[in-house]
Amino acid sequence: MIPERTYRLLLNRRHGTPGVVVLPDGGFRRARAEIASWDGYAATPLLALEDVAKAARVASVQWKDEGPRFGLGSFKALGGAYAVLRLLVTELARRGVTNAATSAELAAGAHREATQGITVTCATDGNHGRSVAWGAQRFGCRCVIFVHETVSQGRRDAIARYGADIRVVPGTYDDAVRAAAHTAEREAWFVVSDTSYEGYTEVPRDVMQGYRVMADEAADQWTGDAPTHVFIQGGVGGLAAAVTIQVRARYGAGPRVIVAEPEKAACLLASAEAGEAVSVPGDLDTLMAGLACGEPSLLAWQELERGAFAFMAVPDESAVDCMRLLARRSPGVVAGESAVAGLAALLLAAADPMSRAILGLDAQSRVLLFGTEGATDPELYESLTRLDD
Ligand SMILES: Cc1ncc(COP(=O)(O)O)c(C=O)c1O
Repeated sequence: MIPERTYRLLLNRRHGTPGVVVLPDGGFRRARAEIASWDGYAATPLLALEDVAKAARVASVQWKDEGPRFGLGSFKALGGAYAVLRLLVTELARRGVTNAATSAELAAGAHREATQGITVTCATDGNHGRSVAWGAQRFGCRCVIFVHETVSQGRRDAIARYGADIRVVPGTYDDAVRAAAHTAEREAWFVVSDTSYEGYTEVPRDVMQGYRVMADEAADQWTGDAPTHVFIQGGVGGLAAAVTIQVRARYGAGPRVIVAEPEKAACLLASAEAGEAVSVPGDLDTLMAGLACGEPSLLAWQELERGAFAFMAVPDESAVDCMRLLARRSPGVVAGESAVAGLAALLLAAADPMSRAILGLDAQSRVLLFGTEGATDPELYESLTRLDD
């Protein structure tokens, strides 16, 4: 169904060993109730991909399509915007403005004078920044988003549309992260990051609690016996960890979660290999821009080091293969470059007897995939999926 390509597969030796609770369930229930109350909230579709299941020689493949999420084009709408809200509520209480601001009040401009004095910021390669900007606009604070110079104009415009001030930084994503952190410190702004590190976990924990809503919806929509396998793409790992936690909350330890990364930015696989969180060197030059991360999120790693069943690293070419495959099937499915690593991992592994055996994929397997973005960069999407190519 897609051409054979070279990939890496690593079984996680520590899978299933007990560890810390990274995302308490109370926090998830609060996130779910909050996000479900927002204007425009609707569960995204769960689609059966029978042709893919047939090609992979498994019983079923279900695709959770995050393209329509809040009109923002990706699951990230659930994380950054929710963290902005939580930060504003906390900060308004700290400043003595109100002890229990609600999202409805903030959206209606109830504490505008105070919220306008608060600025949130982050570095982004697109989707997270869009979510933070959207949340800031919705809940009435100011927003400055840092992007590195190779972030496309289309992605910059999509963020600016939500009223954020865009600052372009020479260099890579990591340079933008540093610029955001320095400026935030100088200006007393609030960094809303989707990755966590020693001493910075509160905001990214909220981001991940928001992501769990996506996996929870999928479990609500799923019919019949539980999934046996979940393939999920990894950047810093926040999403994969949130999915692993929610899948366990809904189904217990049964389903095997396989984390799929670009081969040029496989920091989670490298960490599993090393037995501790490690960074990968290089310029992380992958087409899968949302997954171009060289360093795992601390919280995510605490979950994935024992929650993930296996890690895979797939080449950029297989992402393009999968985008085209989905675009050309009938009915078509629109999936951006960073949405398909999980599908690529499934199809590559399913075609190889040894990988099938390692992952336990067989004709009875029921697979859940997350199409984490639609065409968030429409020009790039067009150029990669054009029919005459
Ligand atoms: C579309 C898409 N999928 C997956 C991811 C991976 O999320 P995480 O960085 O939390 O692993 C991202 C991150 O930006 C993304 O944009």
